[in-house]
Amino acid sequence: MTAHSVALQKLPADLLQERLPKHVAVIMDGNGRWAKQRGMPRIRGHQRGADVLKELLRCCKDWGIQALTVYSFSTENWGRPLEEVEFLMTLYERVLRRELEELIRADVRIRFAGDLSALPEVLRNRIDQAVVATQNNQGIQFTVAKNYGGRQEIVQACRAIAQKVQQGLIDPEHIDEAQFERHLYTAGICDPDLLIRTSGEMRLSNFLLWQMAYSEIYVTDTLWPDFDRAQFHYALRDYQQRERRFGKL
Ligand code: IPE
Ligand code: IPE
Ligand code: MG
Repeated sequence: MTAHSVALQKLPADLLQERLPKHVAVIMDGNGRWAKQRGMPRIRGHQRGADVLKELLRCCKDWGIQALTVYSFSTENWGRPLEEVEFLMTLYERVLRRELEELIRADVRIRFAGDLSALPEVLRNRIDQAVVATQNNQGIQFTVAKNYGGRQEIVQACRAIAQKVQQGLIDPEHIDEAQFERHLYTAGICDPDLLIRTSGEMRLSNFLLWQMAYSEIYVTDTLWPDFDRAQFHYALRDYQQRERRFGKL
């Protein structure tokens, strides 16, 4: 650990605790480019990216962020070469297995957003185990989006609501935003205040389309495997200077 990162264990003095985002969402992008720049296969970027996520989660906990949601694998990422997809699925399973004890100890509540039914069974089992093992924890709410697509999420919510209408459990007149939100994967978690996207891309790539209606967006050119506490500090400092109007004056 560098002297700089040790110095940043505590909330940096220029950040105001009361103006921190409650919920931070992250599009962890740029793993492939990071590896390519070093003449390494793309998977090395993904490996390193997993370590970086671990450090960000620890930092959120140290600094008092209540919820962290990260984009890990999109519904569109299945379109990558089979070799890369298979590597990622194995990596996710291995990381979860390795980190579970630490997540429990650190009082993290982990949950997942996305259509998990399409994931390999070993990974699904590992996910179920982690969710159950941490469900009563009281610390940071950590949500990992896997096989997640914002459009897919909205469609599955519509389907679930339509089924309840058909069964006579919901009156269509009573469908409102609050009702709809209860059918999203993120039910019960406040909307992200801040979205961070690494690697310079200025797009949402189908992430949390409903939930990010009023999120502040911060894009950095830093590639995900290089994202550290100092980078997170810059993002939070930038966020604290924003004026959030929510359509008002
Ligand atoms: C993000 O990094 C990880 C996943 C989407 C799984 P990328 O793999 O997209 O890296 P780049 O964008 O190709 O550099
Ligand atoms: C978004 O990154 C998905 C994840 C980070 C998991 P992508 O690399 O898939 O997005 P695009 O293709 O640049 O939009
Ligand atoms: Mg990418």
